[in-house]
Amino acid sequence: MSIRPTPMNADLEGQNQQRRHLMLTAATLGVAPWLLSACASTAGGAEAGRSPGRPQAAGARRRLGPLEVFPVGLGCQWRPGATPGVVVDSYSSRFDRPAAIRLIRQAVDQGVTLIDTAEAYGPFLSEDIVGEALQGIRDKVVLETKFGFDIDQVTGQRLPGGRNSRPEHIRRVVDAQLRRLRTDRIDVLIQHRVDPNVPIEDVAGTVKDLIGAGKVRHFGLSEPGLQSVRRAHAVQPLAVIQNEYSMLWRGPEAQVLPLCEELGIGFVCWSPLGMGFLAGGVRADSRFATAPITDFRAISPRFAPEVLPANMALADLVRNWAQRKNATPGQLSLAWLLAQKPWIVPIPGTTNAAHMTENLGAASISFTAQELQQLNTAVAAIRIQGDRLPPAVAVMSGVEAAPKR
Ligand SMILES: NC(=O)c1ccc[n+]([C@@H]2O[C@H](COP(=O)([O-])OP(=O)(O)OC[C@H]3O[C@@H](n4cnc5c(N)ncnc54)[C@H](OP(=O)(O)O)[C@@H]3O)[C@@H](O)[C@H]2O)c1
Repeated sequence: MSIRPTPMNADLEGQNQQRRHLMLTAATLGVAPWLLSACASTAGGAEAGRSPGRPQAAGARRRLGPLEVFPVGLGCQWRPGATPGVVVDSYSSRFDRPAAIRLIRQAVDQGVTLIDTAEAYGPFLSEDIVGEALQGIRDKVVLETKFGFDIDQVTGQRLPGGRNSRPEHIRRVVDAQLRRLRTDRIDVLIQHRVDPNVPIEDVAGTVKDLIGAGKVRHFGLSEPGLQSVRRAHAVQPLAVIQNEYSMLWRGPEAQVLPLCEELGIGFVCWSPLGMGFLAGGVRADSRFATAPITDFRAISPRFAPEVLPANMALADLVRNWAQRKNATPGQLSLAWLLAQKPWIVPIPGTTNAAHMTENLGAASISFTAQELQQLNTAVAAIRIQGDRLPPAVAVMSGVEAAPKR
């Protein structure tokens, strides 16, 4: 893997070369980049305010609201496969529990400090794997998990209610999450989707109480309505918003990112590789499995056979720019996200240790202002066909919570 960023100035070039060398050396040795770095920090999961003066350029740590993390995180969204012992992602990749545990530990060794998961992933399986993987290295990471669906806490069955953010349910879920994650605190607790039946003030107030009790440290929302963000933030300041964002889905640029900027909220991008599309994992003739387990792309309109050939224009653009920057398509896509704002952190998901290491290399790629403008213009010229999500999933995004009476 060779990376050739074009720096903004000579100073940055020197830093970038150092970082590139650092990342590649660290990846080769399988150790944390900052163990080798002159501008390194000593522990993961730091509060931003506790570590003034750290460099914030690509390759260093970056601010995420009140937190400070490595620029690329790791998404842990897995569920049981069709056969015993098999663990699958939402697409067509599979591995097993020991491999998942190794992957997480390798990621932390190589410098990742933001680990994302959720109660709903499995349900429970992903939190359980993350909890086991982090034994002994828990303090090195910012651990992010989510509540908000109506899941039976004993059986793991999804209940017909769909979403459930009632205060007593949140409290029960958090206690179960702490057990599964084998920890005494959740660093960022995120409401997975806004519950239209529960005032967001009640949700934020419950999280505030959990923070007071030491079980939770920070609060976040995923795919929320804009007014719910303001209302929640007024009760318990939000550390992060976690929405889908990538070159394939630029929805947050219109209103969500400006709101984050206004309120000082960090932004975590889910599906930053466009569900594998931007990393080169999809072709014009790709067809996705519907059995024994459905690949989420099989039910997502933007991956339908009739629109894929047109949408490949974006994958081609990414591939060309990746060549130009001596990067892989996945790295180029993640670096583009990092270049948008200094408080954006992508959490690519993978079942593949080599992909994980490759993705961290994105932190060493930078763009000149001119390059970024050129790339943004080219991306904007491509109109992606087909809705981003199946209707039943899309309807849960941008929802406003019930008014507080
Ligand atoms: N808040 C929410 O509602 C929400 C929703 C969805 C996801 N998330 C979070 O976001 C995380 C990431 O999203 P995601 O997994 O949906 O999508 P993603 O990160 O955009 O893409 C994952 C796909 O990309 C492939 N991939 C990863 N790195 C690659 C590389 N270097 N080269 C080639 N292929 C690569 C993976 O396959 P391999 O396994 O083969 O690498 C997998 O198929 C999840 O794990 C989860 O934590 C949150």
